Amino acid sequence: MDIRVLIKEGVLAQKAYGVENAAFPVKLDANENPLVMSEDLRERFAARLASVPLNRYPEAGSPALVARFARAFGVGRDQVIIGNGSDELIQILCTAVARPGAEAMIPVPTFAMYRISAQNAGLKVAAVPLDGEFDLDLAAMRERIAAHPPALTFLAWPNNPTANCFRRERIEAILGDWPGIVVVDEAYFHFSGQTFLPSLGRYENLVILRTLSKVGFAAMRIGMLIGPPALVYELDKVRLPYNLNAMSQAAAGFYLDHEETFLKQAEEIRGWRDELLAALKTIPGVHPRPADANFIFFHCDFDTDRVYTHLMEKGILIKNFNAPGTLRNFMRVTVGTREENGRFIEVLKDIIA
Ligand SMILES: Cc1ncc(COP(=O)(O)O)c(C=O)c1O
Repeated sequence: MDIRVLIKEGVLAQKAYGVENAAFPVKLDANENPLVMSEDLRERFAARLASVPLNRYPEAGSPALVARFARAFGVGRDQVIIGNGSDELIQILCTAVARPGAEAMIPVPTFAMYRISAQNAGLKVAAVPLDGEFDLDLAAMRERIAAHPPALTFLAWPNNPTANCFRRERIEAILGDWPGIVVVDEAYFHFSGQTFLPSLGRYENLVILRTLSKVGFAAMRIGMLIGPPALVYELDKVRLPYNLNAMSQAAAGFYLDHEETFLKQAEEIRGWRDELLAALKTIPGVHPRPADANFIFFHCDFDTDRVYTHLMEKGILIKNFNAPGTLRNFMRVTVGTREENGRFIEVLKDIIA
């Protein structure tokens, strides 16, 4: 008896999501904030965590955080769900809409978890290639919507890995067409400064995702979903009662108490991004794309597999997207500290010299 006969096709068709867990002195692959908290903040953080009663279940549904984030976003409490990272919120969305035959539409290339969660939930995936500028191909998306209206469309804004914000008018056009739920994933909001939050009242089908992972709390897994009350009501039934552990709830509270510190870091990182972009532009054969996020997507005139391996040998980890088609010889580098970025540029220049 083959155990796989019991497994859904969408699961069988996949490989488990691979994450490079090895330690690298210069880790620029996962779009994290490269800065750690000051000694003083860390002590206060430790004291906050020490006061969490570990013998009790966490507060179900993170009500204190829902209230605080709702206030911060200027929406009602019935419009917010806190997730175990936005990954969990993506999974909740997929699970909730996965009626027989339902589809999720994603532009490609984009964040891998949209496809993975959709397939795991049993959704079909309609992948529509981005245009030559890595913007939404509105005509192709509309064609797809007309042929088979998706239940869910995921738009990362800025997009990962291409680092750009799609043109706002194109997203508005899709929202206005009402193809189903349209998720604008603002994971990199702190680096783009652009948001669809003010549009929430205008579109019944708009959902926004945010995360604390890119501004310094990746380890704590804290994501936020903001949407219309009628949808949030349904999605909340899919969420596991104790989805956010008590440490993470305390950490998110701590973040909100000290948010200005982390926003200042994000501002500093934006400055380093612009320096890194300028440095990449000076390297012959390297063509960085405009970047609205805390990472840069760049094309090379040469084989990036070789560059990737050499960088790793020198203790530097970035992301290699080399694949046949539009991603051939593309790489993505997360903005690190000034020193890390400098080291990356120095080694990259050496490799291709
Ligand atoms: C577009 C996008 N959305 C969501 C996530 C995941 O965020 P979280 O850590 O909150 O699960 C990522 C992480 O890389 C991302 O790039």
